[in-house]
Amino acid sequence: MSNVVVMGAQWGDEGKGKIVDLLTRESDVIVRFQGGNNAGHTVLVGEKQYILHLIPSGILHEGKKCLIGNGVVLDPEVFCREIDSLRAQGVDMSPARLMISRKTHLIMPYHKVLDQAREAHKCKDAKIGTTGRGIGPCYEDKSARIGVRSADLAMPELLRSKIEAALVEKNALFTGLYGQQPLDADAVFEEVMAHGAKLVPYLADVSSEIHDAWAEGRSVLFEGAQGTHLDIDHGTYPFVTSSNTVSGNAAAGSGVPPTKLDRIIAIVKAYTTRVGAGPFPTELDDATGEYLQQKGHEFGATTGRKRRCGWLDAVVLRESVRLNGPTDIALTKLDVLSGLKEISICTAYTYRGEQVAYPPQEQNGMAHVTPVYETMPGWDDDITGCTTWESLPAPVKAYVLRIEEITGVRISLVSVGPERDQTIRR
Ligand code: GDP
Ligand code: IMO
Ligand code: MG
Repeated sequence: MSNVVVMGAQWGDEGKGKIVDLLTRESDVIVRFQGGNNAGHTVLVGEKQYILHLIPSGILHEGKKCLIGNGVVLDPEVFCREIDSLRAQGVDMSPARLMISRKTHLIMPYHKVLDQAREAHKCKDAKIGTTGRGIGPCYEDKSARIGVRSADLAMPELLRSKIEAALVEKNALFTGLYGQQPLDADAVFEEVMAHGAKLVPYLADVSSEIHDAWAEGRSVLFEGAQGTHLDIDHGTYPFVTSSNTVSGNAAAGSGVPPTKLDRIIAIVKAYTTRVGAGPFPTELDDATGEYLQQKGHEFGATTGRKRRCGWLDAVVLRESVRLNGPTDIALTKLDVLSGLKEISICTAYTYRGEQVAYPPQEQNGMAHVTPVYETMPGWDDDITGCTTWESLPAPVKAYVLRIEEITGVRISLVSVGPERDQTIRR
């Protein structure tokens, strides 16, 4: 029984939801450890598509326990909406199988106002293109030690006083800088409790739940959100999210020792996409980029924005391997590349006149690199029906093996379509 971390190796939307859903069959407990409802994880079950923002993607498998760790930021309103919608579709959403850490920070109404006001106030080049879900401001309050934690929902007086204290500063910003109306502490309290009261039965000690599961010989799957290059420290700062998205945070974000993480699966999309602003060296502003966007249905699962598309960037992957230590790679959306005459892989950058193998560390250095490409033959075959490695056409295998060679990591899963059974195990 091994414990597995699933994380994104690029800029998010690599297909983590599909792979988590697939691996849930072999796990007993599924844990989200960072991010919030900025995530959108798609799972296709037959004709039915589910997009999970906050609740672990393992929820669709009966009997599996799903946990929301301390490293997540949780919007009570979104949580209630998501459980209502899943329950209406027949999914068991009882507190016996879904739990929230008492240490999980809550996204408050003023976090969402601040996220959106701040983005609107920035000049064009400085806009991050956040999801506007209040993620950044919630993590800011956590670090400033003025945050609201889910356990506070069971202590209304404490919650009320924290809201009042937070609004002193927030309202000064809203009225003084952003030209917004001030928020009223009582109204915010009522709004939060309207949803928050429903969360109380779900509160638990997530660290202890995981340790208890281990004591019974069970295995745990840690579901990452976003991707390595959106990491607050290691991503393309400042065009990043506000949490650590790398594999190491699976431990801190759920309350377990890192020595317990046995297997780390990096999810790699066979090309690259990015939503929101920020440097993207291999972005294609041409017909090929358009082809990938259309064929890959590259629209954000949370905001519906068109995803920017480009060639696979092995510099980005090399850095992801260094930061996450993956034991395996799951390569997704390989089917989208069918129909291209040639396929390029960026193997290095030229930066300040030199060839570099890793992303530059200076702020926005990534905006000033030129990709060095190697080109491989494409293929015309539709591979969405392939279920074995042997049945893949030779140029497809060559592409996969080349990625394996460049990254030095075994590609153990190859995904050729959004459905559960469109996956080849190697
Ligand atoms: P996540 O955020 O990493 O979970 O990824 P998203 O769900 O945001 O985006 C991935 C999209 O690609 C979803 O619409 C999936 O259904 C779809 N998808 C996943 N794997 C494959 C694949 O191998 N081929 C194709 N064509 N689509 C896939
Ligand atoms: P999943 O888990 C892709 C991006 C936003 C924006 C930046 C900061 O589905 O892969 P934020 O709201 O987090 O402050 O926005 O991060 N972003 C994502 N991009 N996939 C995601 O999640 C993302 N979550 C945030 O577009 O550029
Ligand atoms: Mg997504």
